[in-house]
Amino acid sequence: MATNGSAKPDGRYAADRLAKVQLSGIRRVNDKVHELEAAGRDVIHWQIGRPDFDTPEHIKDATIAALKRGEVHYAPNNGIPALRKAIAARTELDTGVPVDGMKQAVVFAGANEAIMASALALINPGDEVLMADPNWPNYRHIISLVGGVPVEVPTRGEDDFQLDAAEVEKRITPKTRVLCITSPGNPTGAVQKRETLEALARVAIKHDLVVFSDEIYARIFYGDGRVSPSIYSIPGMPERTVIINGFSKTYSMDGWRLGWTVASEELTKAIYKARQYTTVCVNTFIQHGAVAALSADQKCVDDMVSEFRKRRTIMLEGLRAIEGVTVPDPQGAFYVFANVKSFGKPSSELADWLIEEHGIAAVTGSIFGTSGEGYLRMAYSCSTDECARGMARLKTALDSLRK
Ligand SMILES: Cc1ncc(COP(=O)(O)O)c(C=O)c1O
Repeated sequence: MATNGSAKPDGRYAADRLAKVQLSGIRRVNDKVHELEAAGRDVIHWQIGRPDFDTPEHIKDATIAALKRGEVHYAPNNGIPALRKAIAARTELDTGVPVDGMKQAVVFAGANEAIMASALALINPGDEVLMADPNWPNYRHIISLVGGVPVEVPTRGEDDFQLDAAEVEKRITPKTRVLCITSPGNPTGAVQKRETLEALARVAIKHDLVVFSDEIYARIFYGDGRVSPSIYSIPGMPERTVIINGFSKTYSMDGWRLGWTVASEELTKAIYKARQYTTVCVNTFIQHGAVAALSADQKCVDDMVSEFRKRRTIMLEGLRAIEGVTVPDPQGAFYVFANVKSFGKPSSELADWLIEEHGIAAVTGSIFGTSGEGYLRMAYSCSTDECARGMARLKTALDSLRK
């Protein structure tokens, strides 16, 4: 709708680039939750993708100590050396590839800023950027904001949402510059298998693409080992991959706003240049807390993942007990992406009905891309008890639709 007498949807002073960007559909559900709760309604919180745990105490203590020591001035643009070294050590452990933190790591105010700065540094206006559909919508919007063209590659629940290299290759043109991979995925929780990553790596190398590998959920992994496979560990990929990662999920630090990139020295130099003009640097004292997060005993992460594992079982068993719902086994993150096509309604309508009539806050799959239509994303980042109560409520609601 026009505002301020302008034909532009964002108002007459808005830059043209805003026309390709929508407000967050996830935030819209969140606002609805607040509205219902203010009216005294009980709501099941499956809408937001952030852990419900507190940040571990030792991370807070290290941050407070740094603040009290007077670590209150600008940090280096790319992050304090101790944190860059800790990021490098963690990346080496997770991928088996040697990393020089002083030359290859940059600290950001969240993974989101890491994606924005990497896009500003590496994507020209008109460049095409490949990404899975469905996918976390910020990729589509950030690429549009920097003038790039998002090109979506459909994936299917029947294939465990694997990103098929042949489908990717079909969409490559002389303008294709970057391939974005998010594994484990949001909204699907799907983990790209090593064979999938190897095939994607062959395509990236053949067509000289840069890969943005979003590994923010890599440690919230239910498969074999502590961490999901990374394309960075495939020969030929460290020189063309930008790892996007952060503290929000693994250490329950989403409000701290802290993330990073790891990439080759050449890519890092470009990202660093763009980064100097975004938030300049991250709050100095919280970077000291982040060093403690990466360097101390990782029991807090293991404990959180085992809690998520219990909730995942409740969610999957609950969904599979509802007639007409199917759900692929998510191997990571804290999302289930349930197929509700059999109810014969657009998933946005179903999601609106669930929240309005039954106080169940799920997100329609359609906001994650065309292939998300017919699915609902549920984030099990609420208590085990709430997951169980929610599943009972969801069964009653969906069963009533069949009558
Ligand atoms: C795939 C993915 N990448 C990045 C982010 C953003 O993380 P941060 O809080 O570090 O900006 C999210 C948050 O939901 C996400 O799902």
